[in-house]
Amino acid sequence: MKQSFFIALAVLLFNTVNAQKLKSPNQKLQMEFSLQNDGTPSYSLNYKDKVVIKPSKLGLYLKNDAKYLVNDFTIIDTKMTAFDETWKPVWGEVASIRNNYNELAVTLNQKGTDRQIIIRFRLFNDGLGFRYEFPSQKNLVYFTIKEERTQFAMTGNHTVFWIPGDYDTQEYDYTSSRLSEIRNLNEKSRTENVSQTAFSPTGVQTSLMMKTDEGLYINLHEAALINYACMHLNLDDKNMIFESWLTPNTNGDKGNMQAPCQSPWRTIIVSDDAREILASKMTLNLNEPCKIEDTSWIKPVKYVGVWWEMITGKSSWSFTNEFPAVQLGVTDFAKAKPNGTHGATTANVKKYIDFAAENGFGAVLVEGWNEGWEDWFGHSKDYVFDFVTPYPDFDVKGIHEYAKSKDIKMIMHHETSGAIRNYERHIDKAYQFMKDNGYDAVKSGYVGNIVPQGDNHYSQWTVNHYQYAIEKAAEYKIMVNAHEAVRPTGICRTYPNLIGNEAARGTEYQAFGGSKPNHVTVLPFTRLIGGPMDYTPGIFEMDISKINPNNHSHVNSTLANQLALYVTMYSPLQMAADLPENYNRFADAFQFIKDVAIDWEDSKYLEAEPGQYVTVARKAKGTNNWFIGNVNGYKARASNIKFDFLEKGKKYEATIYADAKDAKDANYKTNPQAYTIRKITVNNKSTLSQVSVSGGGYAISIIERK
Ligand code: NOJ
Ligand code: CA
Repeated sequence: MKQSFFIALAVLLFNTVNAQKLKSPNQKLQMEFSLQNDGTPSYSLNYKDKVVIKPSKLGLYLKNDAKYLVNDFTIIDTKMTAFDETWKPVWGEVASIRNNYNELAVTLNQKGTDRQIIIRFRLFNDGLGFRYEFPSQKNLVYFTIKEERTQFAMTGNHTVFWIPGDYDTQEYDYTSSRLSEIRNLNEKSRTENVSQTAFSPTGVQTSLMMKTDEGLYINLHEAALINYACMHLNLDDKNMIFESWLTPNTNGDKGNMQAPCQSPWRTIIVSDDAREILASKMTLNLNEPCKIEDTSWIKPVKYVGVWWEMITGKSSWSFTNEFPAVQLGVTDFAKAKPNGTHGATTANVKKYIDFAAENGFGAVLVEGWNEGWEDWFGHSKDYVFDFVTPYPDFDVKGIHEYAKSKDIKMIMHHETSGAIRNYERHIDKAYQFMKDNGYDAVKSGYVGNIVPQGDNHYSQWTVNHYQYAIEKAAEYKIMVNAHEAVRPTGICRTYPNLIGNEAARGTEYQAFGGSKPNHVTVLPFTRLIGGPMDYTPGIFEMDISKINPNNHSHVNSTLANQLALYVTMYSPLQMAADLPENYNRFADAFQFIKDVAIDWEDSKYLEAEPGQYVTVARKAKGTNNWFIGNVNGYKARASNIKFDFLEKGKKYEATIYADAKDAKDANYKTNPQAYTIRKITVNNKSTLSQVSVSGGGYAISIIERK
């Protein structure tokens, strides 16, 4: 007994010899770095004296390397610095962002190999970021990562909101469970997708949201994913330790590196108030400042599009049903019989342009405009699209002129079918074609397995492709909204032309069988931590068979919930996704979508609990007007809010779009279209108690009375 006490004390003393402590600017977070007895780097994190991360190992396994970069280190230098600046994003949830942290950079030297790495920690008031840096040196020049060994040791069997680990898709519904239940639920949570690759029964994706029994909210993710593989997490569920699990390249390597270089930041956002997780700007702050000099061409936009009619199956992307397959340049579409269901016809596009102009939208997206959709995925085909050849019934020039005459911008669509090499071959021509025809934004897509075959959507090489497309687009002054690409990690700070990403289960799944009604109460805590999502909200017709009699999907949301999404799902790019005729049917509710802003001076998270509810108020940039959104999960709930964010002494007219609580069975399933609209006068002393039904919500526009 005595002996083991002395051993324990000796270990403690030894460990503390090398321990480096760091506190956040407000002192609420503390982290400690130390070397274990065998020279293994380790860190831990506390929040208000509660343990968030227990001592966790750091390091990397390298390929063909006897020693690895995991132990036998000595500290050769430590540097502590403080940083505090405020910067202005080109677009965002707020007009200015404070970047305030204390930094500890530890330089380690490995005994025997004489190799050096720096582990840089930045401790903010809202969390910790750290990364590995590999300075230029003789003994570490080219190296291949076999696996990164970054641990996040949890203190218990937390509640967790997760999607299964997958190298190719994030389009899953979230499962909420205890950590210990991930193993049994993993397979079940893997719903079908056209490209998916599982790797471990306890593998999950970031951004991962957890809640401890003590009421701490913990979010694990990464920031500035550049020239590196996307990180998943694998849980050792005996010890409740997450460990990094990178996505491999085709050769199985998890990173082909050349020093000087660095890993992305590994991030831990923590608070005892769920609202602070949503308000955190740490992920953006860990990215480099904007690299685009002139950003005047980057503009938030609300848009409509020839889209939902294809997603629901009412119309088709393809032009003809005559060909079993297409060969670009060989197949003659001019001679083919049109199938009569093609959505992207000049006449139909003009209808959308009219609708956009009449209702104050800025842009129209058109999918299915170019040759190749007859056999666009499932064949690992390389040359699927050339991105410049329209179908015979899509008049590029005529549409350009028509849109211009109505002051509407066109949004280009580049579906790559995962054929990334083919896209890169065509990218200059494709972007030039856009510029020549009045398109300043592109929605790109990566449906299906990546071609060249064997690569994954989230590998280092494919990550480099997405980055190449963003930077190339910036050269052409083109904004990018990439679907099925890697989930964002705050890169929009550096390249604000990345105005949208999908990288999660979007509204399209409401037409493919439905999503969980509380999905949108989880997304702000997970997917949105890395950046905005092109969620494509605004569905008013929940019974999809009314659009396509052969599609029996049901949209698991009330109409009022759909309105709230324009505020709760922050994005500088917002679609009104439903068909114009459905908006015309509910013109009074549509008014909110017309009115709601897309760029914000300020945002206040009023209520939040992952999986249950999110209520946010945002102030429209350059005005005194506010918009509020509340989305609610499974259980009907009264939301109680104060309007104390309004300017003192001013009066406002609030228009409240809410679930009709008197309507019989009003909820997402049985009566989703029951809503009420009422107007009240409010000032900064006003309060509101508003019931949201199951899968419901409310939206409020608050306009200053002059
Ligand atoms: C999947 C995207 O998420 C969707 O928005 C798009 O319409 C289809 N791919 C076709 O590109
Ligand atoms: Ca998708």
